Amino acid sequence: MAREWNAVAYEGLSSPQTRWGAEFLGHVDLRGDEDVIDAGCGTGKVTGLLLERLPRGTVLAVDGSRAMVEAAGGRFAGESRVRVEHQDLLELEVEEPVDLVFSTATFHWIKDHRRLFGRLAGALKPGGRLAAQCGGEGNISRATRATREVMSRERFRSSFEGWDDDKNYAGAGETRERLEAAGFEGVETWLHEEPTRFGSVGELARFLATVVLGGHLEKLPEVEREPFAGAVAEEISSVDGDPLLDYVRLNMTAARSGGAG
Ligand SMILES: C[S@@+](CC[C@H](N)C(=O)[O-])C[C@H]1O[C@@H](n2cnc3c(N)ncnc32)[C@H](O)[C@@H]1O
Repeated sequence: MAREWNAVAYEGLSSPQTRWGAEFLGHVDLRGDEDVIDAGCGTGKVTGLLLERLPRGTVLAVDGSRAMVEAAGGRFAGESRVRVEHQDLLELEVEEPVDLVFSTATFHWIKDHRRLFGRLAGALKPGGRLAAQCGGEGNISRATRATREVMSRERFRSSFEGWDDDKNYAGAGETRERLEAAGFEGVETWLHEEPTRFGSVGELARFLATVVLGGHLEKLPEVEREPFAGAVAEEISSVDGDPLLDYVRLNMTAARSGGAG
C-alpha cells in the first residue's frame, strides 16, 4: 500500500498542485454526465473542481493514504455524487467501469507504470478515456541533486542505507509505449515546465517536508526531519540564491481501445 501523507499540511501547502490540476482539467472535454475516477485524490481540492464540471455525473475518489481519504471524505460528506475509497491504484478494483480516469500529481509516486496503466484500463469502459498529469522526466532536478547531496552527509547517511528512490519521473516516449501496451489508443503524451518560486528558504523547506520529501523523512528519526528538509532547501537555494523548484509535468491523454469510434 502507498505511504501515509500529512493531509492537513498538504491541504495548506498544495496550491501549486491545485493550480496545475485546474489548468489541466480545463483542457479535458466533459459533457457533465460522466462517471469519473479521480486516481490519487489527496484531500480532494482538485476533485471538487472536477465535480463542478459534472453536474449530472459521479466521482469515485481513490487514494492510498488513510489520512487523505479521511480529509476527502470530510470534504464531500453529504455529496451523493462522490464516493471516497481507500485503495492502492496498483490493485484498483471498481464495481462498474467508468467513462474517465482523471489524475493529477500522483503517478510519479508509483514505480510500476505498466501495472498502473493496466489497472486503469481495466477500470474503464471500452472507449473510456484517461487524462492525467504527474511529475515527468527532469522534474525538480535541483531538488533531486540537493537531496542526494544532503543524504550523503555524515549526519544523515546511515538512515538512507539501501534507499531506493521513491519517485518515478517518466519520459513522454516511454509513457506512450506503456499506455499502448496496456490497451490504450489515440495516446498523446507531452512534457511542460512549471518553475515554481517560493517566498523564502523556510517556506520552501515546509513545502518540501510535506509534498516532496515525505518518504525520506519517514526514514529519519523525528528530531532529524526538520533539519533534513531545511538542509535540502538551503542546498537548492545555494545554486543561485533562488528558492525555486524546476517542476516538469508529464501530461497524458488516451482512450481505452474497443470504443465505437
Ligand atoms: C501530491 S498528492 C496529489 C493529490 C491531488 N490529486 C492533487 O492534485 O492535489 C499525491 C497523492 O497520491 C496518492 N498516492 C500515491 N501513490 C498511490 C497509490 N499507489 N495508490 C493510491 N494513491 C496513491 C497519495 O496518497 C497522495 O494523496
